[in-house]
Amino acid sequence: MEEQALLYEGKAKRIYATGNESVVRVQYKDSATANNGEKKAEVVGKGRLNNEITSLLFLKLRKVGIQSHFIEKISASEQLVKRVSIIPLEVVVRNFAAGSFSKRLGVEEGKKLSKSIVEFYLKDDSLGDPLITDEHVDVLDLASADEVAELKAAALKINDILSGFFTEIGVTLIDFKLEFGKDADGNILLADEISPDTCRLWDIETQQKLDKDVFRRDLGNLTDAYETILTRLGGQLHV
Ligand code: C5P
Repeated sequence: MEEQALLYEGKAKRIYATGNESVVRVQYKDSATANNGEKKAEVVGKGRLNNEITSLLFLKLRKVGIQSHFIEKISASEQLVKRVSIIPLEVVVRNFAAGSFSKRLGVEEGKKLSKSIVEFYLKDDSLGDPLITDEHVDVLDLASADEVAELKAAALKINDILSGFFTEIGVTLIDFKLEFGKDADGNILLADEISPDTCRLWDIETQQKLDKDVFRRDLGNLTDAYETILTRLGGQLHV
């Protein structure tokens, strides 16, 4: 196959052009990073695991009416997605206290929140992705008030659905990050990935962490944790 133009390279993925202007190819990399790139490692097989898990979750969401940029998985570590322009916001949903929420606010990790909350972070590595308010989103012209409401409603709806999927496989969805993009017609679509890199996933019985915290906190083998999630979701370990 003719090598197509690399459009963008991020910490975990590369985006390539395709013959079709409205479609791009995403290649999941084997690199793991944490603390805004301060901690790095090559983890063989991670790209494939995140591609498989994200593809499965986007397909499951599609079946219940949640559209995303996902078109299809085309190889072990690649998928085709609709080209969107990413809104530079990380939309985080939290069901339980953990991570930066616990650190910033002094709440014990694992405490169930009285309701699920949505936070916005500015997607900017050079600034360390700071937490921002709706008013910051407004004055920085990142999204309109209607779009903010749409993003929050979509994030909470996706949270309800994903929490259900994970409960069925014995996993608690502690928190997660979504990204959204706009297509050529200005429609907002769920984009990026949903994987153990972007979610905190704890075994319901044992509370074992089955997500990137295994890498961030040196808790063991990242591939084992991601393989557990993939197999419980019904995915194939080896293709
Ligand atoms: O670090 P923090 O507690 O704010 O992360 C909340 C959730 O968002 C976690 O599931 C984490 O994996 C995800 N996240 C992410 N990418 C970032 C920051 C957070 O996927 N840049």
